Amino acid sequence: MEFDFSKFNAKDRYKLLTSTVIPRPIALITTVDEQGRVNAAPYSFFNMFSEDPPTCVIGVQRRPDGRPKDTAQYIRDSGEFVVNMVDMALADAMNITAINFEPGIDELEMARLETEPSRLVKPPRIATAPVAFECKRSVTLQLSAERDIVVGEVLTMHAREGLIDPETLYLDQSKYDAVGRLYADLYCPLREIFALKRPEPQEWLADPKQPLPPKVYK
Ligand SMILES: Cc1cc2nc3c(=O)[nH]c(=O)nc-3n(C[C@H](O)[C@H](O)[C@H](O)COP(=O)(O)O)c2cc1C
Repeated sequence: MEFDFSKFNAKDRYKLLTSTVIPRPIALITTVDEQGRVNAAPYSFFNMFSEDPPTCVIGVQRRPDGRPKDTAQYIRDSGEFVVNMVDMALADAMNITAINFEPGIDELEMARLETEPSRLVKPPRIATAPVAFECKRSVTLQLSAERDIVVGEVLTMHAREGLIDPETLYLDQSKYDAVGRLYADLYCPLREIFALKRPEPQEWLADPKQPLPPKVYK
């Protein structure tokens, strides 16, 4: 079955795209307005796209009445933001920060979340976030009247004590209770994790009909 996007409106395209490209990581983004007031909101059109330069990308819609969302406006004005990753413990509060409040309402206070100062940017990070990235805007692409794509550079990263081994830089998966967004109000935890061994080119070319490497559950 084909779904030709030229025949669907934006709402239906959103449904098709967000229900199929899953799970998406959730960036709980903190920004500050010109008076230094803190704003927080979740964004799941989000991911990391490069390590050199370290680059994240966020897709921001307009509000239903066409005005920019606070996150987009404050990143445009200040050039700075913090991406706080969302785990199971933070998910319920994250949901409160998503309420469509008017500018000036402190979503962190509404969601009962504490912050810690950032080191290189003005927006603070969320104290209980397992991981937080201090970022500066590289560029904002305005794809349409409704859609900004914010491209940001990660300046520094904070991780909860014990989460990442400082010697090996390996993350302890058993301590990272990450949550992904599915669509609408559906979310998923990380449940079964498996490894897939990737053969070397010559190994595979030696017998391209060999069995596919099996999933090895961790
Ligand atoms: C899990 C989750 C993910 C979301 N992802 C996005 C997104 O990628 N882009 C977007 O424009 N809005 C997204 N939203 C909606 C915004 O969080 C919501 O409009 C919020 O009120 C915007 O706040 P702000 O004006 O303070 O930026 C998401 C909401 C939730 C709950």
